[in-house]
Amino acid sequence: MSHSAQDGATGASSSSILAGRRLVLGLSGGIACYKAAELCRALVKAGASVQVVMTDAAAQFITPVTMQALSGRPVYTSQWDAREGNNMAHINLSREADAILVAPASADFMAKLLHGGADELLSLMCLARPLEQVPLILAPAMNREMYAHPATQRNMAQLRADGTTVLGVGTGEQACGETGDGRMLEPEDLLEELQAFFTPKTLRGQHVLLTAGPTYEAIDPVRGITNLSSGKMGFAIAQAAWRAGAEVTLVAGPVALSTPRGVRRVDVKSAEQMWRAVEPLAAGASIFIAAAAVADWRPAQAAPQKIKKDAGGSPELQFVENTDILASLAQSARARSGALFCVGFAAESHDLEAHAQAKRLRKGVPLLVGNIGPATFGQDDNALLLVDEQGSEALPRASKQLLAAQLVARIAQRLKH
Ligand code: CTP
Repeated sequence: MSHSAQDGATGASSSSILAGRRLVLGLSGGIACYKAAELCRALVKAGASVQVVMTDAAAQFITPVTMQALSGRPVYTSQWDAREGNNMAHINLSREADAILVAPASADFMAKLLHGGADELLSLMCLARPLEQVPLILAPAMNREMYAHPATQRNMAQLRADGTTVLGVGTGEQACGETGDGRMLEPEDLLEELQAFFTPKTLRGQHVLLTAGPTYEAIDPVRGITNLSSGKMGFAIAQAAWRAGAEVTLVAGPVALSTPRGVRRVDVKSAEQMWRAVEPLAAGASIFIAAAAVADWRPAQAAPQKIKKDAGGSPELQFVENTDILASLAQSARARSGALFCVGFAAESHDLEAHAQAKRLRKGVPLLVGNIGPATFGQDDNALLLVDEQGSEALPRASKQLLAAQLVARIAQRLKH
């Protein structure tokens, strides 16, 4: 059975790209303000310092006390706030920020921003911010009719044209009882959008295809052969590649993980299903990363009915070899012409460098990522050894999320040459 590098990591604060960032979190009026409380907490947990600014309308939905407690800082609600020595909160706050995120951004607030309105602190601050240094990100939230209205759509298009990042919205049941587009994105989605916002777009224009997780080879309708891969490393790489600007397709074996934001996911069970999914997708990919722990063999024939004990003895299983997905793609015309950059994984138990180099040559890939299998399966961190024709580079033990970002950066460097 193959055991490729896997398993898990999602989000230690020390490895977050938000650590140390100074954010202004602005709240305009809307029932989605309740989600801003959780978002604030998540941002602080990710290591950001969060200065909350609220409009009067926002303070109708959630109190500044709540936001102060969660952000650990007094909340600003008025441009006449006398706490500022120069009485210029709009200038001081916007000069100190790495970005301003308005969540929720109401229809009215966006309309005001569009026209350069500045009759309260939050819009005044957005207008007064140094355009080049302090990006403005809006998370719209409103009733579906308000969202679909041509005025709102026109305003959002113009705000984008003016350089503002206007995020998408969620779909579903709304507080008003109607169902449709316009809900504010969930706090975890906003956190992910913000992390992507700050990530250098080293893979812009690339299409990354990945495999992740174990495969499951059926013996009969209720039994099968699988392995301990959790898929966390592959999922972390998919997430890191999306943050770096790539279009990402993830072909996943049976795992209990949610799909990273922005990633297109195709679920498969067996190694042959994985190959059938991957092969056509590879035609549109520019990078293939084989992080899955693909079974090398499958039972020659899965029994159509459960194999019963009362048949006596133990069943004789015959095996046939599965397609080697990585080796097949590495030998494809697309990879040979340089249009598809292939990255393999190797989970070894000892002599990592020698085994990884041998496997890299055997599979015919320019880059192979080695790790010690028993030390990583089921864990949230890992240590990697990258081997290529020049030699090797060790990426020391860290969260799989951080390692995924480092791996993506190394792949991007190689594509530049
Ligand atoms: N792989 C694949 N298809 C397979 C088997 C493996 O794509 N049928 C990929 C894995 O995703 C991984 C790499 O090949 O990127 C190495 O897998 P591994 O199982 O370690 O390699 P094997 O060639 O099976 O070698 P071993 O004898 O060590 O199991």
